[in-house]
Amino acid sequence: MGQARGDQPTGPTSWQIGPDSARIDALEGAVIDRTDPILEQISREDLKAIYLDGLAAIAAAADLAELAEVRVRFLGRKAPLVQLLRSLGELPVEERPEVGRVGNLVRRTLEAKADARERELESWKLAQTLEHDRIDVTLPGRYSPLGRLHLITQTRREIEDIFIGMGYEIADGPQVETEYYNFEALNTPADHPARSLHDTFFVSEGILLRTHTSPMQVRYMEKHRPPVHIIVPGAAYRRDSDATHTPMFHQVEGLVVDEGITLADLKGTLETFARAMFGADRRVRLRPHFFPFTEPSVEVDVSCMICDGAGCRLCKQTGWLEILGAGMVDPNVFGFVDYDPELYTGFAFGMGIERIAMLKHRVNDLRLFFENDLRFLRQF
Ligand code: PHE
Repeated sequence: MGQARGDQPTGPTSWQIGPDSARIDALEGAVIDRTDPILEQISREDLKAIYLDGLAAIAAAADLAELAEVRVRFLGRKAPLVQLLRSLGELPVEERPEVGRVGNLVRRTLEAKADARERELESWKLAQTLEHDRIDVTLPGRYSPLGRLHLITQTRREIEDIFIGMGYEIADGPQVETEYYNFEALNTPADHPARSLHDTFFVSEGILLRTHTSPMQVRYMEKHRPPVHIIVPGAAYRRDSDATHTPMFHQVEGLVVDEGITLADLKGTLETFARAMFGADRRVRLRPHFFPFTEPSVEVDVSCMICDGAGCRLCKQTGWLEILGAGMVDPNVFGFVDYDPELYTGFAFGMGIERIAMLKHRVNDLRLFFENDLRFLRQF
């Protein structure tokens, strides 16, 4: 900053209180210091005006772009001050030293003020950005509802995990089937009641919606030689509709074929499954039954997990709950897939996923699975 020098006019009276006083007042004293030692050194009105206007403009620059304009206006190549300094040679000799010295002082001072204002605006801008981008960590987060798997899907996966743990593979097949795979190759003759229009959705002549997952037994055995250990989860369709039947439902088929497979293997396998699914204390029992594609055939019950066999409402006082149908693969089925029935034996089973889920979670109406009522679905 310029310092008052002994050979320069000093004191507050060294510059005129005239038109400038209004300008200074307008600046509210905030920008212009009346005791500014530089002012005291300026005697020329034009320099004084440039200096005061420059200070005011720099102080009034509201942002960096405006400040850049102010710089050009007061300090740029075409600015009156710069022009004046450049044309020193044209001034009367006696004016040159003062104009040169004071003019440069004014220029350096305005430059310094502009630099200071620039830093100020920059930090203000930063503060504004910080304020604007501030994160209020006390605000509650935006709620994004988390979905969940349908109980049928959860149960299917649980069943899959149990059988994968026993070394099974998962196979998949078509839901629109031929009569051949759904019935004929499963040893189910044309006059079997299941084949009637009352029980089966026919798509066209010989084409239907599979009534069980068992057709995959045949499809799989056609393409693979023993040993076979598969489960086949998937949808099946029947023309049924009441509290315990829906037209579409889900099954898991199981098929094991190898040399020396017996009914004891079936029972042990299902016992392992029942304990993993319903608790370590479960027992299973086999009841004689009939399916065209297994011989012998059984229905499989699990000891009631509520009363442990004593008898309660869930098991209708029997102590047992039916969970699936099963049996030893009928040699006639092997005939359809060219397996030697003298060499190979096997077992098969089929369970309803909805039924397993209902027993495990005490769901009392099958239709709840398909109504998509979140009050129900959210419970699992
Ligand atoms: N497919 C039979 C049904 O849907 C169940 C079953 C499968 C029975 C495999 C025996 C062997 O009722």
